[in-house]
Amino acid sequence: MLCLLLLCGALACGADRAAPLAFTMLQLTRVSDGHSDFWGNATLDGQLSHRLEGLNLSQVLPLEPPAAWARRKEDVATYLDYFANVVKLINMERPINYTQSLCCHLGCRLFPNGTAHSFYEVTLNGTAFLSFHVPTATWQRHWPRQDMVAIFAHRELMKYPQTTYDLQHFLNVSCVDVLRAQTARTAGKQSSRSHTPLVLGLTLGAFSLVGMAVGIFLCTGGRC
Ligand SMILES: *[C@@H]1O[C@H](CO)[C@@H](O)[C@H](O)[C@H]1NC(C)=O
Ligand SMILES: *[C@@H]1O[C@H](CO)[C@@H](O)[C@H](O)[C@H]1NC(C)=O
Ligand SMILES: *[C@@H]1O[C@H](CO)[C@@H](O)[C@H](O)[C@H]1NC(C)=O
Ligand SMILES: *[C@@H]1O[C@H](CO)[C@@H](O)[C@H](O)[C@H]1NC(C)=O
Ligand SMILES: *[C@@H]1O[C@H](CO)[C@@H](O)[C@H](O)[C@H]1NC(C)=O
Ligand SMILES: *[C@@H]1O[C@H](CO)[C@@H](O)[C@H](O)[C@H]1NC(C)=O
Repeated sequence: MLCLLLLCGALACGADRAAPLAFTMLQLTRVSDGHSDFWGNATLDGQLSHRLEGLNLSQVLPLEPPAAWARRKEDVATYLDYFANVVKLINMERPINYTQSLCCHLGCRLFPNGTAHSFYEVTLNGTAFLSFHVPTATWQRHWPRQDMVAIFAHRELMKYPQTTYDLQHFLNVSCVDVLRAQTARTAGKQSSRSHTPLVLGLTLGAFSLVGMAVGIFLCTGGRC
């Protein structure tokens, strides 16, 4: 797997952990002949919390009550379906007769000294493509060449609050808050904080994917 997933292994997750407590999401999208395949997972504290297969997102840990979860699941499926349709449409106009692999890796880590670190990294065909700089809510380009594909995808992602300020808030605040609450829980303190913010991240992740789709699949071939 090209995207390195940093997991805090179940055994290393005791109260005296040296490794950070983490929530990470990994999403792989493969587009081939105009057809999109989605696959992904999310882990909280080293445990599988969500799984994505095609448009089917399931929560493995019961983080959200069924009614709320049903809505969230639908939101993510809507964005992914939209992505797949954008790709299909582009493919009809200008056949995409090769495979593109997009990998998104995002989440946050909380270190034992209280420091937190959040990240969102994207690779295209296994090469660093874009990353999100949390303090400034901006996307940064890493693509080795000055291709229009990177320039355009970057511009698309910078356009929407969902892929800039909402994402910044999710990564810097919501995600880290949940980890802090989790730490309090394992330390035996009372906490009833909801996990809803983590699930919100799944929706934002899917939205970002749509932003990238527009850039990547419109621009491949040098025309936008
Ligand atoms: C999530 O997916 C990655 C990539 O395939 C895999 O290495 C990892 O073991 C999975 N995590 C869990 C908890 O299943
Ligand atoms: C979605 O995934 C869940 C859990 O893996 C599975 O039980 C369910 O049958 C799947 N639904 C569809 C429509 O594939
Ligand atoms: C893929 O598309 C390009 C550009 O349209 C074309 O030159 C090439 O021959 C096509 N390859 C295949 C295998 O169809
Ligand atoms: C990704 O790799 C495929 C070949 O596997 C290539 O046709 C495609 O152009 C690559 N995408 C980019 C943006 O370079
Ligand atoms: C906390 O720990 C992390 C990881 O070991 C380190 O990178 C960071 O600089 C530390 N922060 C402080 C304020 O000591
Ligand atoms: C991120 O969160 C930290 C700690 O909660 C806060 O001090 C900082 O101002 C936040 N930064 C942004 C850009 O939201």
